[in-house]
Amino acid sequence: MSRARRLRATVAAVAVAVPLSLAVPAAVPATAAPRPPAPEPGTALADDLLVVGHRGASGYRPEHTLASYELAARMGADYIEPDVVSTEDGVLVARHENEISGTTDVASRPEFASRRTTKVIDGAPLTGWFTEDFTLAELRTLRAVERLPEVREENTLYDGLYQVPTLDEVLELRARLTKELRREIGVYVETKHPTYFDGIGLSLEEPLMTDLREARVHKHTSPVFIQSFETANLRELGEKGVRVPLVQLLSGSGQPYDFTAAGDPRTYADLTTAEGLQEIAGYAEGVGPEKNQVIPREADGTLGTSTTLVDDAHRAGLLVHPYTFRNENVFLPPALRDGAEADDYGRALEEHLTFWEAGIDGMFTDNPDTGVVSRDLFETDAP
Ligand code: G3P
Ligand code: CA
Repeated sequence: MSRARRLRATVAAVAVAVPLSLAVPAAVPATAAPRPPAPEPGTALADDLLVVGHRGASGYRPEHTLASYELAARMGADYIEPDVVSTEDGVLVARHENEISGTTDVASRPEFASRRTTKVIDGAPLTGWFTEDFTLAELRTLRAVERLPEVREENTLYDGLYQVPTLDEVLELRARLTKELRREIGVYVETKHPTYFDGIGLSLEEPLMTDLREARVHKHTSPVFIQSFETANLRELGEKGVRVPLVQLLSGSGQPYDFTAAGDPRTYADLTTAEGLQEIAGYAEGVGPEKNQVIPREADGTLGTSTTLVDDAHRAGLLVHPYTFRNENVFLPPALRDGAEADDYGRALEEHLTFWEAGIDGMFTDNPDTGVVSRDLFETDAP
């Protein structure tokens, strides 16, 4: 029996024995949406350890461009990861946030100067240009730029070359590369700011379901995950009959914005307890924690001892896909840095291997090639 099959059998046995008892304030319905049917073995929740190309291969190309996604797949990523937001005309496009001055050339476009504005997004004021103020046709006139030019100067070579892709285009790319590479390339979609978009009449869930259905990747066997830092939209997707597996993103601080909006005092820390994970298992198939929630950093800059998160999540029947693995020193634990510069590569493989050994089921990485090498090393050495 493979590792994940053993896990599935174990957690199924344990899950029935553990009560659902996370305290839920009266204002929030305590009943979870019915859990989607478990995927068949060897399908969407494959037995394999997954490498997810975070925003594509964003260590090498401007993030959330077709070029970034394609490179990730060619480097061996199992899944490519589009974050999605809405345009004014309700089309889902791939951006990490709806404010686009950091990842496009919009600020240099005089024709859009008057669109610069200040909004409150998830409770915080933000000034810039927002996707929901652009039709798709207008957005298509913009070009992507590198978000982190100081760390990833090489990526600026590609500034100005690529458009902001629609989710439809990402799904088409997925299908094309699946055929060409003769292996299934998955899509790991994240809905960004779902409560905010609901509030301005541009709900993300319905177009997402339509796009998946039209691309014929809407079944529980489809190579798709849907992830969110909020909770209500994931429950809503389950209630609307979405069959692909759902993943609850977690964070080392704060609370889901839908909790904030509903006056629910619970935090991500509450969701990360053993009881919280049992609650999540009522509507999701996995969790995506910040990597420090899996293995915290010690004061001396080394990686510390694993928390109980992985074991607790597995006991609840949840996969664990932490974020975000990156090769550059600035993102690594100080003890694994190498060289003097923030953008020098450090000992990322050591970090990766420590996390595989901690029992994670997959990882989000800006450097999918490194992720694949680390997984190969881990699987070669694993007993
Ligand atoms: O979705 C996993 C990871 O991408 C979450 O962080 O902020 O990069 O979307 P973020
Ligand atoms: Ca994401």
